[in-house]
Amino acid sequence: MSDKCKKIYITTPIYYVNDVAHIGHAYTTIIADVLARYSRLVGYDTFFLTGTDEHGQKIEQSATARGKTPKEYADTISGEFRKLWDDFDITYDKFIRTTDEEHKVGVQNAFEKMYKKGDIYKGEYEGYYCVSCETFFMEKQLIDGEGCPDCGRPTQIVKEESYFFRLSQYETKLLDWYKNNPECILPKSKRNEIINFVEGGLKDLSISRTSFDWGIKLPASMNDDKHVMYVWLDALMNYITALGYGNGEENMQYWPAKVQLVGKDILRFHAIYWPAFLMSLDLPLPHHIAAHGWWTRDGQKMSKSKGNVVNPKEVADAYGLDAFRYFMLREVPFGQDGDFSQKALIDRINSELGNDLGNLLNRIIGMSGKYSDFKVSSKDVATYHQKELDQAHEIIENIEKLIYDMQLNRYLEELWKLLFIANKSIGDYEPWAKIKEGKTDEANALVALVVNILAKVSVLLYPVMPERVGKISSSLGFEVNTDSYNKLIVNKELMDDTTISKIEPLFPRIEEPLLATPAMEESSPKPQVQPKQEESNQSQISEDGLIGIEAFMNVTLKVATVVEADEVPKSSKLLKLQVDCGEAQNRQILAGIKEYYSASELVGTQVCIVANLKPAKLMGMVSQGMILAAKDENGLSLIRPEKSTKSGTQIK
Ligand code: ME8
Ligand code: MG
Repeated sequence: MSDKCKKIYITTPIYYVNDVAHIGHAYTTIIADVLARYSRLVGYDTFFLTGTDEHGQKIEQSATARGKTPKEYADTISGEFRKLWDDFDITYDKFIRTTDEEHKVGVQNAFEKMYKKGDIYKGEYEGYYCVSCETFFMEKQLIDGEGCPDCGRPTQIVKEESYFFRLSQYETKLLDWYKNNPECILPKSKRNEIINFVEGGLKDLSISRTSFDWGIKLPASMNDDKHVMYVWLDALMNYITALGYGNGEENMQYWPAKVQLVGKDILRFHAIYWPAFLMSLDLPLPHHIAAHGWWTRDGQKMSKSKGNVVNPKEVADAYGLDAFRYFMLREVPFGQDGDFSQKALIDRINSELGNDLGNLLNRIIGMSGKYSDFKVSSKDVATYHQKELDQAHEIIENIEKLIYDMQLNRYLEELWKLLFIANKSIGDYEPWAKIKEGKTDEANALVALVVNILAKVSVLLYPVMPERVGKISSSLGFEVNTDSYNKLIVNKELMDDTTISKIEPLFPRIEEPLLATPAMEESSPKPQVQPKQEESNQSQISEDGLIGIEAFMNVTLKVATVVEADEVPKSSKLLKLQVDCGEAQNRQILAGIKEYYSASELVGTQVCIVANLKPAKLMGMVSQGMILAAKDENGLSLIRPEKSTKSGTQIK
């Protein structure tokens, strides 16, 4: 069987129906969606599960408080979750509800099997229970002898007959699993926490309750009607009942899961109870349990009472779903906490999506139109640009393992290195100059290089931004699918001859925050919960104010010759210069140097300019660059090449 027939099973937690979805839930689900889309793109047979967790005392209480039955209440909120994921184009293959009949049957069969195996016994439970966390605690764990160590709410003393799962018997087996599978829990740092916890000793786990009703009954064969199952046993089983476990088994070929995504709040349940249950059922264990960090708002936990909940639908509607997806993945290294702010989102949209990606596409559309009537052929790319192709393919080769390693921010950083190669090669090879010199083949080869890099980036970016990338690829004249993935990524081939079409800017610049609800205000001071940089060689400014070479290389500096200079009427500062910087047309630059230089003395001299600045308007006139100068108490001095230099020469 080829690798491509591999089965990939991806799961999210099933969300409690006592609350509406916020960006934390959206984050988990979007990551899972990216993994599922990526897996399908590669050609793996993929199954993606999400759903809702509907039993337990907490839901029963929330429903009662609203004068509804638990089922009515669950129907409403479960429907809202499902609608949100549908609005978000989440490509789940199944949406499970723990109130589904098939799930109940599956869980009862699992319970029976564990009981027959001798892993479940009846005893008496005495302890402290937090309804909000649906978790039992020992007295010594409580805050001030009463409060839940996880959420701080008061716990209640529970003393009742209960069935127990022999968790204590799985201690050694669990430790063996963690130790023999270094990647079973991601990020790896979390695995150590779990190992330490388990080494501290495991007690048997109470898995049934008699004090309320809203849960799955024990299997009929147990003849014990008083009990309902502990909600975490019920909930964890969803990952296999969704595949038909204990009830037809129709999709059990997808088990074990490739990645089970959870937030760090529920890692213990997934990294300890869940594998122990699976061992008891003689089922294989998941490949990765991946725990992500916590999203906060202004450094605080989001909650309705604080009014600081970030509504994912509002954000996506305002800024675009794909930009939101990109932001969530790029902003925070997987496993670390992150803080949501509109400013951070806007910055990434404008610089990474707008500049690095969107402008590159628009430039290349413009060039291909001008040079070759939008027709692009890869025939000469290898002749002129083997170096850039090799660089690009090397990055691509090393990028894919980052996906299932959950290093999604790194994955995106690597893709942006490809865009950097493309952006830089335009400045380096200056196709406009080639055209002027009659080297049409060379200019067209450069355009084709950039088109090929954009195409490869599109394929790999598709799982993250499916809608926007669909627009890019159709503008480049191809479709992202497993075939183009195999051709452009696996086989490292180049694009077939293609005709480019113009499109609207994909990521229009955003100047102001688009959402102004109280929960969105940027006013409160922002505590330092920004993720730490994982690597030092990034293009951003580091804490000590130093930049990487890439940040400098992003600035194109050139020698230019002043062809014309005029005073700007009514301005005491500005001169209007026409400069030759080796391009097909002269550029107009407005410079605030009138107090120091006269127009006439500048004509024919050389200056140094920043050549890749966004055009700006000054006094109603366009300025396409900036002139370098140094100013001290004696006045202003232009920076000029020491010897006469060809116009357009790049300064390095
Ligand atoms: O725990 N930041 O459901 P739940 C990041 N039903 N992620 C967040 C988040 C935040 N601020 N808030 C929530 C349950 N999440 C159980 C799970 S699974 C068998 C049963 C995400 O509705 C994160 O994935 O409380 C977290 O693990 C999950 O929502 C908890 O959702
Ligand atoms: Mg929760």
